[in-house]
Amino acid sequence: MKTFFPENTSSRDLHHIMLGTVIPRPIAFVSTIDSKGIKNLAPFSYFNAVSSLPPKMMFSISRKSDGSKKDTLINIENTGECVINMVNQDMVRQMTIAGFGFDSEVDEFSKSGLNTINSELIKTPGVMESPVRYECKLDRIIELGVQPGECSIVLCDVVCIHVDENIMEDNKIKQEKTNIIGRLGGTQYIKINKENIFSALQNRKTVPVGFDNLPKSILQSEILTGNEIAEIAGLDSLPSKEEIETDYSSFKQFDLDTLHYFAQMEIKEGNIRPAAAILMVGEYLL
Ligand SMILES: Cc1cc2nc3c(=O)[nH]c(=O)nc-3n(C[C@H](O)[C@H](O)[C@H](O)COP(=O)(O)O)c2cc1C
Repeated sequence: MKTFFPENTSSRDLHHIMLGTVIPRPIAFVSTIDSKGIKNLAPFSYFNAVSSLPPKMMFSISRKSDGSKKDTLINIENTGECVINMVNQDMVRQMTIAGFGFDSEVDEFSKSGLNTINSELIKTPGVMESPVRYECKLDRIIELGVQPGECSIVLCDVVCIHVDENIMEDNKIKQEKTNIIGRLGGTQYIKINKENIFSALQNRKTVPVGFDNLPKSILQSEILTGNEIAEIAGLDSLPSKEEIETDYSSFKQFDLDTLHYFAQMEIKEGNIRPAAAILMVGEYLL
């Protein structure tokens, strides 16, 4: 492990480490209007939903290289509102155009070729092409610094949400249909699709056994991975000695590693209890 202390690390390196490792980051594509009504659009990936009850979101806006405020921050301070538009893969290049530092009187909707759509509860329009739009009112701005690169955190109340029905089924969001993208470091992005979504399930109705209650023969396995051992630790109980003697005695002809290979195959098939039983043969019968 390489260790970094912020006080001895350049801001450039800190930026590089944090953007490259806190990944993927969602992107708030924020639309605002200025006091003259000029529309503004810019992406921010220091962004997240921070509360569902009440629904709140935050994103962070850094100061420009001369220490001045970005247009988005000025506009939100003036109007107290914004729309957070989610970005899908179909609009990613248009989003990067809007991310260019145009002068404040430039309308980034026109520059990026994206269309406006009126909001329900606020004056600021959203991005028509976006699959999900959050109409927001400003809760507060937390200023972390005023020097170049230093950030202000914008905390918003979500007052209205629009979701494209094409990404829903039976009133539920189908995540693989959203096509929403996340930001990695530099110019790289990641898309959400069926191939890269997986489940990590823990039964929440029963108390998991936990690693601390597993026998050493399982914990010190040369075969099983941490995730595989966690499948066993996630069960609500381990098979009893009687269960093993009755149903699994034929397994005692195998050595420990072979038992662990068998158990691993069962885990891969999702047969966690039989896997636990095979592993416990090593404990009770060898
Ligand atoms: C994908 C992406 C993510 C970005 N994330 C941030 C961010 O979290 N904070 C920030 O200050 N700037 C971020 N930027 C840069 C701003 O979008 C850029 O400075 C923009 O010009 C600000 O526009 P404005 O002056 O109209 O507010 C990001 C740019 C891109 C392309």
